[in-house]
Amino acid sequence: MDINFFKPKLGDIVLMQELVKSEVDKGIILLRTSDEMATTIRSYTAVEVDGKLAGFCALHIHSVNLAEIRSLVVSEKYRGLGLGKTLVKKCLEEGAFLEVKEVLSLTYQKDFFEGIGFQVISKESIPEHKIWADCIRCKHFPVCDEVALLYKL
Ligand SMILES: CC(C)(COP(=O)(O)OP(=O)(O)OC[C@H]1O[C@@H](n2cnc3c(N)ncnc32)[C@H](O)[C@@H]1OP(=O)(O)O)[C@@H](O)C(=O)NCCC(=O)NCCS
Repeated sequence: MDINFFKPKLGDIVLMQELVKSEVDKGIILLRTSDEMATTIRSYTAVEVDGKLAGFCALHIHSVNLAEIRSLVVSEKYRGLGLGKTLVKKCLEEGAFLEVKEVLSLTYQKDFFEGIGFQVISKESIPEHKIWADCIRCKHFPVCDEVALLYKL
C-alpha cells in the first residue's frame, strides 16, 4: 500500500468534494463551496493511497493564537489505518511551524481527538466568537451536540 500525504491543489477540489459528500449529507461536516475551498486551499493537507484520494483535513487560522481543525475526513474504505490521526498530526505540525498556540476541534469524534492529545473544553470558553459564524450554516443549529476540544502547542 503506497501512502502519500500532500498539499492539495485547486484541481483536487472536485475529488475532495466527492469524498466528503456523504459526511456533508449526514451533517457531520459543514458544506464548503468550491470557491470557499479554493480560497482556503493552502490550509488543506490530503492523503492518497495507491494514487487515489483517501482523505483530507484543514487547519484554519482564526487569530495569532488560535487555529481550528476543519473538514477532517477519511473515506470509509481506508479508515482504521491511522490516516486520520496522521492528517491531524500534520496539521498540528503546520500550526507549530506557524507559531499557532492552540488548535480547536468542534466534533462528534471526542475519543478520536482525545487519543491524539486534545482535551475537552466547554464550548462557552471558546475564545473567538467568530467561530460561531459557521454554526448558523450547520444542519444541527441551534441544537448542537458537538464537543469542543483544544490542543495546546
Ligand atoms: C474520524 C475519522 C477521520 C478517523 O479516521 P481514521 O483514519 O479511521 O482514524 P485512525 O485510523 O487514524 O485512528 C486513529 C486512532 O483513533 C481511533 N479511532 C478512530 N476512529 C475513532 C472513533 N470514531 N472513535 C474513537 N476512536 C477512534 C483508532 O482506533 C486509532 O486508535 P489508536 O491510535 O489507538 O490505534 C474517520 O472515521 C472519518 O472520516 N469519520 C467521518 C467524518 C468525521 O467524523 N470527521 C471528524 C469531524 S471533525
